[in-house]
Amino acid sequence: MNTREQQLASIAQEISACQRCSLYKAAANPVPGEGNPFADLVFIGEAPGYYEDQQGRPFVGQAGRLLEQSLASIGLSRKEVFISNVLHHRPPGNRDPLPEEVEACKGFMLRQLEIIQPKILSTLGRYAMNILLPEAKISRDHGTIKHLKNFPFVIFPLYHPAAALRSGSVMTDFKKDFEKLGRLIKLEKGELIMKNKEQPKGAEPQIEQMELI
Ligand code: URA
Repeated sequence: MNTREQQLASIAQEISACQRCSLYKAAANPVPGEGNPFADLVFIGEAPGYYEDQQGRPFVGQAGRLLEQSLASIGLSRKEVFISNVLHHRPPGNRDPLPEEVEACKGFMLRQLEIIQPKILSTLGRYAMNILLPEAKISRDHGTIKHLKNFPFVIFPLYHPAAALRSGSVMTDFKKDFEKLGRLIKLEKGELIMKNKEQPKGAEPQIEQMELI
């Protein structure tokens, strides 16, 4: 059995050879994602931007700096978490991902999650959130805790840090949500997950929303 590192490296290799959509043609580098293969917390963003494309690493530009500062504010470094994206090649001019690109690429990120088995998945922005929670709205659901039937981790949607950098009110929400994420991390090993497992059969909703006080 390959180690988690080997399995993640093999996905990165597949990404670097991927031609399932046309984004690879204009990209300087693939950006497979990086971090701790045993992370309890995984972040999934949207797609590489200019600096990520240049360096082949996720979240190394301005949005990445905000993510790192926010992690530091809850006592974490980027080495302790795993960071990936919905798309692994840069869309030209940082345009929004197309539905067919999301379809072609999302399997890599889902496989990374299967290997890492985090306790918490924090989606950054609506693209990553809507893959697992297609009905969710970022303005309504950011900073709320979701549990999806058949997924062993809780999902905690956040605004994209780039959106926070563009708007003062989004930045305020982003910071508040990060504080809440800090509290969720402390709780995640205990009651939240256990509580959810005790849902009565039949009455169990597809998505359960839990409150964190
Ligand atoms: N924005 C993203 O969504 N992902 C990155 O890796 C960088 C910026």
